[in-house]
Amino acid sequence: MCGIVGFTGARETAPLLLEGLKRLEYRGYDSAGIAVMGEDAIRVEKISGKVQKLCDKTENGAAVHGRTGIGHTRWATHGAPTDLNAHPHLSNDGRFAVVHNGIIENFAVLREALIQKGYTFESETDTEVIVHLLEDCDCGDLKSTVMRTVAQLEGSYALGVLCSDHPNTLFAVKEASPLILGVGIGENYFASDVTALVSYTKNAIYLDDGEFAELTPEEITVYDSTGRKMEKPVSRITWTVEAAEKGGYDHFMLKEIMEQPAAVRAAIAPRVRDGEIRLDEFDLSAEELGQFNKIVITACGSAYYAGCAAKYALESLCRIPVEVVLASELRYGDPLIDEHTLLIVISQSGETADTIAAMKECRARGAKALAIVNVVESTIAKLADWTLYTWAGPEIAVATTKGYTTQLTVLFLTAMFIGRRLGRLGDERYAVLLYDLLRLPKLIQNAIDLNHGIPAIARKYHKSPSLFFIGRNTDWAVALEGARKMKEISYIHAESYAAGELKHGTIALIEEGTPVIAVCCNEQLLDKTISNIVEVKARGARVLAVAFRGERKIVAEANDVIYIPPVNTLFSPALAVIPMQLLAYYVAKENGCDIDKPKNLAKSVTVE
Ligand code: G6P
Repeated sequence: MCGIVGFTGARETAPLLLEGLKRLEYRGYDSAGIAVMGEDAIRVEKISGKVQKLCDKTENGAAVHGRTGIGHTRWATHGAPTDLNAHPHLSNDGRFAVVHNGIIENFAVLREALIQKGYTFESETDTEVIVHLLEDCDCGDLKSTVMRTVAQLEGSYALGVLCSDHPNTLFAVKEASPLILGVGIGENYFASDVTALVSYTKNAIYLDDGEFAELTPEEITVYDSTGRKMEKPVSRITWTVEAAEKGGYDHFMLKEIMEQPAAVRAAIAPRVRDGEIRLDEFDLSAEELGQFNKIVITACGSAYYAGCAAKYALESLCRIPVEVVLASELRYGDPLIDEHTLLIVISQSGETADTIAAMKECRARGAKALAIVNVVESTIAKLADWTLYTWAGPEIAVATTKGYTTQLTVLFLTAMFIGRRLGRLGDERYAVLLYDLLRLPKLIQNAIDLNHGIPAIARKYHKSPSLFFIGRNTDWAVALEGARKMKEISYIHAESYAAGELKHGTIALIEEGTPVIAVCCNEQLLDKTISNIVEVKARGARVLAVAFRGERKIVAEANDVIYIPPVNTLFSPALAVIPMQLLAYYVAKENGCDIDKPKNLAKSVTVE
């Protein structure tokens, strides 16, 4: 996690760094800092708290002068989020400053050795060893100094280095943490992701692990790990500035909820031609697909729940057994995975550490990996045998919305593609499903439009200490995501149960007035879920049901009903999740929570 930025050019750098940090804040917001090359010394400004506090402290950067600098926004790992633990860190002689995203695994050994040599530490961070190592390894040539330093580091790091002996130069190093270079005219940049660059340039160089770069205002030189110069292609950034801004909405989360019809359309449109689903990036023959005797889906967080929801479509349409396993569990198990396993890896950021580790473990056992990823050129996209991008555009709110629905969409496309190619999905069913899939963007828009009453419903529920979410099959998968959304942004305890399971678990916790949100969009199982609604109501629960428009049975049983347009059950999670997102959003808003930056979370989790 953590976000880093760097700038060198002819303009005052502090305001640009702060602007970049604001865009990277979704990666962590425990503290923020900048180091700027002044007249003859590096000036560091840092503070615990959000980037806005640093803006206030530095008059939006106007109080800090210089044209080359680095910045950082932190998600604390080693040491509490204090001013001293904030990056950038400065060497004892004040000549080097460093920002770092990642974890230096051997920092304790390095720290001890540096203390023995007389270096003094002022923070508890792993990062501080890097800046003292730079001073210790200093040989007068900055490139060699950086290489000698990096050679001693174990772990993951995207680094930005500033040295006062080279006032117009920055070094940027990448190892297992994201880092992108921005190519400007008379100025150059680096950042943890493209959202921090789009205001300044559309031209980017994506570094690979082990590579590092020297940036001056005039040029960028990329080196491989041995220090040899490399030619790297310059790619066009497709994301726009507007896409990374709130555009009139109070929160990125609400904007991103509203963007879902367009995002899902963008995920489908290039992949359906002449009535056929075409996955050009995963164009396997029936024979190749026939090699797979099972599908394992792995992911973390909401991406994992997208996998849970799509399992039903994959099994129903492909007739291949599907296991959905949390990446943090899979990586430490002894999974029965071989060359006959199709591994589907789902990740919005493409950088989640546990997901990457699980993917490597499974590939080492022979599995072939299909990645479903939003961020172009991310680590997971590069590691995969095939990648299907979700084309959701930048997702800034920590709680994912359009990331999740586009993942689902691509999974549905994949399920239909495999089923058809294997001859297991007949023409008639295929046509019916394709009709519904193509309507998904419109239906999602309808689901949003139908739910203008959710703020009022949120006012009924926002003071509840605890909420339960229930559903069966696909509805259960949505309930899992619904409970998660509620917890992560409103901090209300929320638990999800397969509807039939609550009575085997904690039904005793249902008391007079306990809200139970029942997802009832699986028509075949509706009567069963209604039985469970009756059970909880008998214990005093207040039931909010999510059902297809026109569904009458539910009205008699539930206290409140939220409707979504009817759709094929297999695809219903993409619609049923919309009211879940809106409910969580409005409950959190009612409770005055920091919706886009929930307590203790970060969007891109690059630590185990
Ligand atoms: C974090 C985010 C979640 C996300 C999960 C996986 O926990 O807060 O919203 O689902 O990481 O992230 P990924 O980028 O791999 O989808």
